[in-house]
Amino acid sequence: MPEKIIGFSKLSREEKIDWISSNFLNGTIEFKSILNKYLNDDNEIQSLHNSFSENSISNFYLPYSVSPNFLINNKNYCIPLVTEESSVVAALSNSSKFWHERGGFTSNLINNIKNGQIHFLFKGKKESLEKLIIENELDLIKSTDEITKRMRARGGGINKIILVDKSSELNDYFQLSVDFITCDSMGANFINSCLEKISKVFRELVLRSNNLQESEKEIEIIMSILSNYTPDCLVESSVECYIDELGTIDGLSSREFSSKFKKAFDIAQIDINRAVTNNKGIMNGVDAVLISTGNDFRAVEAGIHAYASSNGYYKSLSECSIIDNKFKISLKIPLSVGTVGGITDLHPMVKLSLQMLGNPNSSDLMKIICSVGLAQNFAAIKSLVSSGIQKGHMKMHLINLLIKNNASKSQIEKSKDYFKDKDINNQSVTKFLNLKD
Ligand code: MEV
Repeated sequence: MPEKIIGFSKLSREEKIDWISSNFLNGTIEFKSILNKYLNDDNEIQSLHNSFSENSISNFYLPYSVSPNFLINNKNYCIPLVTEESSVVAALSNSSKFWHERGGFTSNLINNIKNGQIHFLFKGKKESLEKLIIENELDLIKSTDEITKRMRARGGGINKIILVDKSSELNDYFQLSVDFITCDSMGANFINSCLEKISKVFRELVLRSNNLQESEKEIEIIMSILSNYTPDCLVESSVECYIDELGTIDGLSSREFSSKFKKAFDIAQIDINRAVTNNKGIMNGVDAVLISTGNDFRAVEAGIHAYASSNGYYKSLSECSIIDNKFKISLKIPLSVGTVGGITDLHPMVKLSLQMLGNPNSSDLMKIICSVGLAQNFAAIKSLVSSGIQKGHMKMHLINLLIKNNASKSQIEKSKDYFKDKDINNQSVTKFLNLKD
């Protein structure tokens, strides 16, 4: 078993690689050569990437793809996407083209408030504490003036601070819940800095208060942190057209298709098995844009799935209606994203993505991402209720299977023709590779 190592982060890159190689990879030198192959030749770029994370020993590539013809609020976009799933981009491009011909996506920002909490224990009377907070809300907000100065100049800052009583769920547990507007930044650092400052001032306020009994002053601050649950930072996108305008889809008439499609959406509203997979399909598109634009996809994922359960059970994020012969699908999701701050100002590819999108502000980026999620969802259900998902999936996956089985260039070339009318799976690919020329 490898020894526990102390001070690993202080080792040089070479030393780190040697240590991993001898402890976990039987000393193979192949490890080092692969890591080196993925280093950037440009030292400046490499050191920039090293600076993004601790203990970085190489780079990890994912494809950087684009999907053109994306019409949102009458503006035509080319969407940058980072994903390793082969069929995602093809499906999205198919869907965006389909809806481009039918008027494109409409998207609206519903609200853009983010929040964070100071979690603390308080054994006194709730009413006395509530009064203290209401009377001192402005002072608490003012205590962050230094931190919020630039954000306020941009139109953001702290909106309100309220006391939340959670003591019926956990003994003595209360929160100071703080609402923020963070303009074009995602705002995690900003929110956390403000909360930590407010928690100190709040503590002093409690200690100095004349309205609280001495025993009531023993509050225990547990932690101060933003919440990635952002149900007040919402965006909605939709597409619609008359049923007849849907056209024939894989042998289904527009009426048959729309009816099956709606049933598939309805199932995802009431069945968790289907809801999770439906939402995963939405996140295929959402995450790909989040990554290409340097946003925190873990935060958004966590917030979106919590939002999908906000009724007390997990359901689909998207809805379908057919009213007066009009087919409409829509998606409403919380999206806490930024177009400034974080790595958006540092990562050259992120800057490129934002440029490609016309340097959107955070509200416009929310609209773009939500529309991409809906387009991805449409593409998946369109396939599922017509040809089935595997046809397109396996067509895209064929190249992966061929490479995995050491296919030559000429075999890859010939495979397109061969698999035109055949099922694609491990067996059929092996059979194809064993054919004599
Ligand atoms: C695969 O990555 C995503 C789908 O499973 C989504 C869905 O079922 O809606 C195709």
